[in-house]
Amino acid sequence: MFFPAYRPRRLRRNECLRRLIRETNLSVDDLVHPLFVVSGENVNEPIKSMPGTFQLSIDCLVKEVQQSKNLGIPAVLLFGIPDKKDEAASGAFCRDGIIQQATKAIKDKVPDILVITDLCFCEYTSHGHCGHLNGGEVHNDATLEMLGKTAISQAEAGADIVAPSAMMDGQVETIRQALDETGFENTPIMAYAAKYASHFYGPFREAAECPPQFGDRTGYQMDPANSDEAIREIALDIEEGADIVMVKPALPYLDIIRRARESFDYPLAAYNVSGEFAMIKAAARMGWLDGERAMMEALTAIKRAGANIILTYFAPEAAKILQK
Ligand code: PBG
Repeated sequence: MFFPAYRPRRLRRNECLRRLIRETNLSVDDLVHPLFVVSGENVNEPIKSMPGTFQLSIDCLVKEVQQSKNLGIPAVLLFGIPDKKDEAASGAFCRDGIIQQATKAIKDKVPDILVITDLCFCEYTSHGHCGHLNGGEVHNDATLEMLGKTAISQAEAGADIVAPSAMMDGQVETIRQALDETGFENTPIMAYAAKYASHFYGPFREAAECPPQFGDRTGYQMDPANSDEAIREIALDIEEGADIVMVKPALPYLDIIRRARESFDYPLAAYNVSGEFAMIKAAARMGWLDGERAMMEALTAIKRAGANIILTYFAPEAAKILQK
């Protein structure tokens, strides 16, 4: 049917009509709130490049998680920043590591919200790379062993879901095996399956104090120019036992999210990363765009592309708007 018989504008004439035919509805159920935890007490240190976000000590973190829960957000994602970094990333897997303590505290004080633990080493290594270094390169199989150990320690602390983001080959299989052997066969894995070597992680590296001390992560994270490879990466992670697969970043990679949605009938997460957050915040501060509306449009676009889980620093702000 063509104009003038068919007029698409007929269904756009008022908000009720628009609501009735809306194809994508963002919900608070879709959101995961990433948080940064440090040691100490009463620490509430603003992260300059990510306005409205903080490095939090465990006491403050628990309050923040309680607020997320009150807003109806189903899950938080924890990044730990240890006091001491070393070559072996030992802060990542020790029993009283920062993320283990934080997980225990949340599970103890804020029931009914999921704790997802980021499973990587860049915050814990003195060199800032995501695993064991060997001759200037991250050694895949030595890192796998560390990932297995760390997954177990996080599950022991009470993590509801572990989220490996190191981009080592075989990491999901190793972690699944490690968890199954220690009685954590019911702990799901959310795999950062297609994680790109992106410049949009810039502000995060300040937040998590983890820039690589030499080189970059292009030897293990994906080349932004590739799309078929993302599909292969996701297929591998599913075969290895991933329960949820992720594309990261989100906004510059909506085509990858769409391809993943069409290729796999698995829960699909997308990470709206620090740089995506910072750009909207910065432009809003300059008065160059309406920050709230740009946020809701960006999150809706990520869902429309095919993600059913969105990890975003906007989670509390968006949840407040969605509650109204
Ligand atoms: C750790 C990790 C990074 C992010 C999440 N996990 C940084 C990196 O890989 O350099 C980025 C998150 C963000 O930018 O919001 N491997």
